[in-house]
Amino acid sequence: MTDKYAVIGNPISHSKSPLIHSLFAAQTGQDMSYEAIEAPLDGFAATIQRLRSEGYKGCNVTVPFKFEAYQLCDELAPRARDAKAVNTIVFRDGKILGTNTDGAGLLNDIQNNLGVKLMWKDALLLGAGGAAAGVLWPLFNAGIGIDIANRTIEKAQLLADEFKGSGTVYARRYDELAGRKYDLVINATSSGLKDDLPPLPDGLFKPGALAYDMMYGRETPFMAYARKQGAALVADGLGMLVEQAADAFLLWRGVRPDTRPVLEKLRT
Ligand code: ATR
Repeated sequence: MTDKYAVIGNPISHSKSPLIHSLFAAQTGQDMSYEAIEAPLDGFAATIQRLRSEGYKGCNVTVPFKFEAYQLCDELAPRARDAKAVNTIVFRDGKILGTNTDGAGLLNDIQNNLGVKLMWKDALLLGAGGAAAGVLWPLFNAGIGIDIANRTIEKAQLLADEFKGSGTVYARRYDELAGRKYDLVINATSSGLKDDLPPLPDGLFKPGALAYDMMYGRETPFMAYARKQGAALVADGLGMLVEQAADAFLLWRGVRPDTRPVLEKLRT
């Protein structure tokens, strides 16, 4: 029998996950289906229960349900606990198991696909919402210094407080950034959705720096700013999407697909 999987979000019609997982399944010879399901904003838990009762093996969770999924799961992997968010669910023995592959997805894309080494580098993380929180611990564990900038400084401070005493994670106001320089600047704000740009000063990028926007699908104002400011590498979040999917696939199917041909296909 074909094993069933899905991604749940709202909205979901533009999701590339069904295409990515069907390419993974073809590449690895796995008998499975993967569909996109739009849950009503007040109907996430009911949708999860339905999938479970219909024998689905697992699902991905995307905006805006990752925190609700974190609260709903019977058991959480450490990565989900750190992120306070769940993007991957496994239904096993009547239980809902949750993990989070977003942070590993970002690191795999930066280090393996883009070839940028992170150890000892200085990073600036823009934003302090769910997307930023989801990647903060994996970035910290990669051995880099992290400044978190956010309009609402209290939210950045709350995230930074999780690393109190480490001496490597600090909250910064945007107007404190002038004169600072980074090897890596990651846009984890939702500003691109509104074709907007956080209030960034000139001269943020060190020589060889990577500018990374976690959004994908089009050139964002942040990416345009980074090119103009001379960032050596400018990337969107498509690679992160494919890498987080590959880790979910590995968890469900026991085999990690080769992401490179899939990423190449999506880019064309
Ligand atoms: P997500 O789950 O995508 O992170 P979120 O939790 O609503 O969504 O967080 C959105 C983030 O983008 C926040 O850090 C927000 O800043 P504030 O906390 O100050 O609101 C940030 N953001 C959204 N629009 C922005 C803009 N135009 N400029 C700068 N930051 C923006």
